[in-house]
Amino acid sequence: MLHTEKIYKGKTLAILSGGGDTPAINSSIENIRKRALLLGFKVYGVRTGWKGLLGDGDIVDLTNQPYNGTYGGTALLSSRTNPFPTEKNPESRVPQIMKNLKRYKIDVLVTIGGDDTNGAAKRLYEQEGIPVIGFPKTIDNDLRTHTTHFYNKQEIDAVLCPGFPTAAMLVSHMARHLRTTNESHQRIMVLEVMGRDAGWLTGSALFGGAEIALVPEYPITQDKKEHFFEVVKKKYQEKENLIIAVSEGVRWWDDEKKEMSMVYASAEKDEYGHKRFGGVSGVVASEISNKLGISARSQISGYYPRSGNCNIYDAKLTSALADKALDLLLREDYGKMPVMNKMVSADGLEEYNTTAIDMGAVGNQPLQDIYYNPNEFNFTDAYVDFLKNILGEPYLPSFGYKYKKVFPEK
Ligand code: F6P
Repeated sequence: MLHTEKIYKGKTLAILSGGGDTPAINSSIENIRKRALLLGFKVYGVRTGWKGLLGDGDIVDLTNQPYNGTYGGTALLSSRTNPFPTEKNPESRVPQIMKNLKRYKIDVLVTIGGDDTNGAAKRLYEQEGIPVIGFPKTIDNDLRTHTTHFYNKQEIDAVLCPGFPTAAMLVSHMARHLRTTNESHQRIMVLEVMGRDAGWLTGSALFGGAEIALVPEYPITQDKKEHFFEVVKKKYQEKENLIIAVSEGVRWWDDEKKEMSMVYASAEKDEYGHKRFGGVSGVVASEISNKLGISARSQISGYYPRSGNCNIYDAKLTSALADKALDLLLREDYGKMPVMNKMVSADGLEEYNTTAIDMGAVGNQPLQDIYYNPNEFNFTDAYVDFLKNILGEPYLPSFGYKYKKVFPEK
């Protein structure tokens, strides 16, 4: 039993979530809230990310508000508001944020976010001295967490972010479900998966039977395109159906414009300069149909992997990381982010496998070369091993009926 109730009596900790939601944010909020209460903090929630610290502020009291940590999304709501001057909004919001932190007497801020939200938190910590603790989240799994994956005597600098485990599970389910319709129509299904700059999430479609994957880290240049079609044809002929997973942010050679292209759903940029992707699966499917004469369809998984309840892996992961956050709070060790220090299965998601990294080390982490084979357009055994920690063994059912062919009697 921890006898720490009085340590931070009279102090206030506020939690904020920014950027795209994940199924694990409410679980993160609840786990952080409970640890902060143990230390005696009053706990506030800042609604709608950094936006909730602008104007009069949008602050709620979470002290006596238990969260349903299984229900997905973020009950604190989210935004892509950037505190710092941007192309879209050249005015700095930092003075307003500082003013509100003072007005609401917020002593410590915990920011649940990806590279954008935690990058901004880091700058506020460094420039303004705000006591900040970062907390990772992103279904894209591309926030540098320095989680070591031990594989074949190698130490791979991998990533593990809350939200990814549930999203990976859902992408693998979706690919698996698509198999039956795909098998029935002997088609090629091109399944589009979120991931602006990194293909971690796209790789989870393998666990549902995708056999080819295109990711942002390995552009499909003019030279590579021919080879890609050959590999698709060969794979399709083996089984007469095929699932190809593509990241929304894959770079694809445009034959008409004679340039590398990315397919956007909208030209509008958010406050961190990102345009919204969407539609590359349609382009890939129609080029396959035209080139190979095989029926191909596209399917965008879109927000589905971001939706619904948080799975057990994410629940345990957010709990272990919150234990480390408690340790950081106790030591007043700010400007840090709790992370898992190695890839483990659900049983190993405990505080002894966590560490804290300096928020200065936060940034985007693309896939390592060891995880992807650009010749085969597919993920490697090393990636399968990485994902097995989270998803267990791939489950790949198929029709499997062995009908005996009959011929008309003579
Ligand atoms: O949070 C990252 C992400 O999941 C990206 O993969 C995707 O491009 C983006 O969110 C889309 O989010 P929204 O449409 O909510 O801005």
